Amino acid sequence: MSLPAIAVKNLFKTFGDTTVLQNIDLAIPQGQVSCLIGPSGSGKSTLLRCMAFLEEATSGTITINGEVLGFTENAQGVRERIPPAANRAIRAQIGMVFQQFNLWPHMTALGNVSEALKTVHKMSRKDAEERAMAQLVKVGLEARAGHYPSQLSGGQQQRVAIARALALKPKIMLFDEPTSSLDPELTGEVLNVMRDLAKEGMTMVVVSHEIGFAATVGQQIAFLDHGKILFTGAPQEVFKKPRHPRLEQFLDTYLDRGASMLL
Ligand SMILES: Nc1ncnc2c1ncn2[C@@H]1O[C@H](COP(=O)(O)OP(=O)(O)O)[C@@H](O)[C@H]1O
Ligand SMILES: [Mg+2]
Repeated sequence: MSLPAIAVKNLFKTFGDTTVLQNIDLAIPQGQVSCLIGPSGSGKSTLLRCMAFLEEATSGTITINGEVLGFTENAQGVRERIPPAANRAIRAQIGMVFQQFNLWPHMTALGNVSEALKTVHKMSRKDAEERAMAQLVKVGLEARAGHYPSQLSGGQQQRVAIARALALKPKIMLFDEPTSSLDPELTGEVLNVMRDLAKEGMTMVVVSHEIGFAATVGQQIAFLDHGKILFTGAPQEVFKKPRHPRLEQFLDTYLDRGASMLL
């Protein structure tokens, strides 16, 4: 088996006295779409945020393409922090898209996508805007490059946010409920962009209640409940009947229209 894009080993995360993630072991295969599903509060966002190093795990390790992120940990559990510059380079392999698009309201779509290229990556304005435009073309928003977020629909804003993440050339893309704040008629355009990205072979980890997307595009599904992974497998294994009672209960709550036909 090839090296996983992300390997999570025995990960724990606590906030004060509350254990939010426990004993998480998960391998994200290269070039595949892995979907994380589970009830609200089960720890999905926290796990994704740990993978992106927006949150520091309490113990355990996360390896990105073979390089340890954040902290190494020896057999005795003694941790050592990875030097910041090295850690930033490892972290840079990851792009993330959130439920809230977090676009800068005073910048156009092109400005939003090119800003970090200019300020963080010190690209010339011309090069940054060229690369940004190529990403806007990719998400179907070439004609909206000069529009401000307030002039764009929620679906278009989320596509700009995806373009912004892609412009930084990540090797892995994490999506945390990318369609949850959109009106139902706007989710399709965002899911289609994600589907295209999957077809190109991008390694993706997607947290979503769009079970239809998980069942058709996901190659691996992990079901999280109360901070633990209850099981992981291909969609046909995970969704086959009879189902684990917790999964059945979850599907009753979140099953989207049409998805029942796929399961
Ligand atoms: N910064 C934080 N401080 C304290 N508790 C948190 C924090 N972030 C998340 N939690 C708690 O961790 C649990 C898991 O949250 P989260 O990862 O957001 O779940 P999900 O994304 O599955 O809904 C919840 O009980 C939540 O209240
Ligand atoms: Mg969440």
